[in-house]
Amino acid sequence: MTIESLGSEALDRIAAAGDAATLEALRVEYLGKQGSISSLLKTLGKMSPEERQAEGPKIHALRQDVTDALAARKDAIDSAALEARLAAETLDLTLPAPAAPKGSVHPVSQVMDELAEIFADMGFAVATGPEIEDDWHNFTALNMAETHPARAMHDTFYFPDVIDGEGHTASSSEAVGEKKRMLLRTHTSPVQIRSMIAQGAPIRIIAPGRVYRSDSDATHTPMFHQVEGLVIDKGIHLGHLKWTLETFLKAFFERDDIVLRLRPSYFPFTEPSVEVDVGWQSVNGRRVLGGDGDAPGHGWMELLGSGMVNARVLEFAGLDPAEWQGFAFGIGVDRIAMLKYGMDDLRAFFDGDIRWLRHYGFSAFDQPTLSAGVGAKGGMGA
Ligand code: PHE
Repeated sequence: MTIESLGSEALDRIAAAGDAATLEALRVEYLGKQGSISSLLKTLGKMSPEERQAEGPKIHALRQDVTDALAARKDAIDSAALEARLAAETLDLTLPAPAAPKGSVHPVSQVMDELAEIFADMGFAVATGPEIEDDWHNFTALNMAETHPARAMHDTFYFPDVIDGEGHTASSSEAVGEKKRMLLRTHTSPVQIRSMIAQGAPIRIIAPGRVYRSDSDATHTPMFHQVEGLVIDKGIHLGHLKWTLETFLKAFFERDDIVLRLRPSYFPFTEPSVEVDVGWQSVNGRRVLGGDGDAPGHGWMELLGSGMVNARVLEFAGLDPAEWQGFAFGIGVDRIAMLKYGMDDLRAFFDGDIRWLRHYGFSAFDQPTLSAGVGAKGGMGA
C-alpha cells in the first residue's frame, strides 16, 4: 500500500469511528508499537540517505495527520457523549424543603464556637492535638514524672500496648527508639507542649477538645470537653492572666459584674498555680453568676485551673525560661455550657436524646458574634 492510500484509508476510518473504543483500536492499529505507521517509520533506518530524504518527510507527515485526526475525532466523540449525558440526566430542583429544620448544633459545639469567637478578638488562634496521646506529652513534659502522685489523680485510660517512640520532641528526655505508653489524653494541656514545640514562642492559643477520665456520675462523664489557654511571651505575669480570664468570662456570660477570686492552688505544670472562683448571687432561688461572692447571700463557685507556666515545662518544650514566660488555664467546656444555658445533668449531653437536642440545641444560623452578644439567642427550644 502506498503512503498516500494508507493515509486516506486511515483518515476515512477515523472519521467514521463512532465511539471511543473503536477510535482506540484504530490508534493501536496505526500508531501502536506494532502499528502500520510505526512499522513504516522503522523502515527509514534501512534506506539509503537519498531515499530517506524523499520518504522521511512523507512518513512523518502521515504520522502527524493521523495523530491530529485521532485527537480531533476524540474531542468530537467526547463532547457528543457529554451532550447526550446532559440531555439524559436531569436534576429536579423542585423537591420541597423539610417542613422544619432537621438537626441542631450541640451546645458543646456552640460554646466552643463562642470561645473561639471571644478569644479570636483577643488575638488567640485555635490549636488542636490528638486525643490518643502518649505518656510524655500528657504527663512527663508537663512536669509529672513517672512516679509523680498527680498522675494517680487523673484516672487515666491506658492502651495495653507500648509502641516505639519516634523522638519527635524538642527534648532529649524522650530518646529515639524509647518505648512509649499510649493513653487517652486526660486534659488538653498536652496541646501546650505540642504548640510550643511546633511553633516556638511567642504563642497565644486556645485548644478546645475532648478529654477522657475513668469517672462517671451526674457531673462526670468518661469523656468530656476542656478548653486550654496558653500565652507565651516576654514579661507575662499573673495580671495578664487575670485580665484575660475576666475579659473572657464577662463576654461569655454577657455580664459586666463578673467578679473573680484567685486562690492559691497546685498543678505540676504551673507555678504559681491559681484556682479561679467566680462570684454568684441568688436570684429567685437560682444561682446566677455575677457580683461579689463575699456579699451576704452570695457565694463563690470554682470555675477553672490556671497559673504561670512552670519553667520546667518551658524547658521540656524547648523554650528558655530566662527569655519566655507565660500563663495557662484549663476550663471544663461542658461545665460552663451548663452554667450558661441551665442544664443540670452532664450525662444528658451525650445521650443523643432528640428531645434534649431540640430543646438545648442551636440553629445553624445562630453564629456567635461578639457584636450580637455571643450565644444571646439561647436554645432553639427556648
Ligand atoms: N489541666 C488541668 C486539669 O485538667 C487544668 C489546668 C490547665 C490547670 C492549665 C492549670 C493550667 O485539671
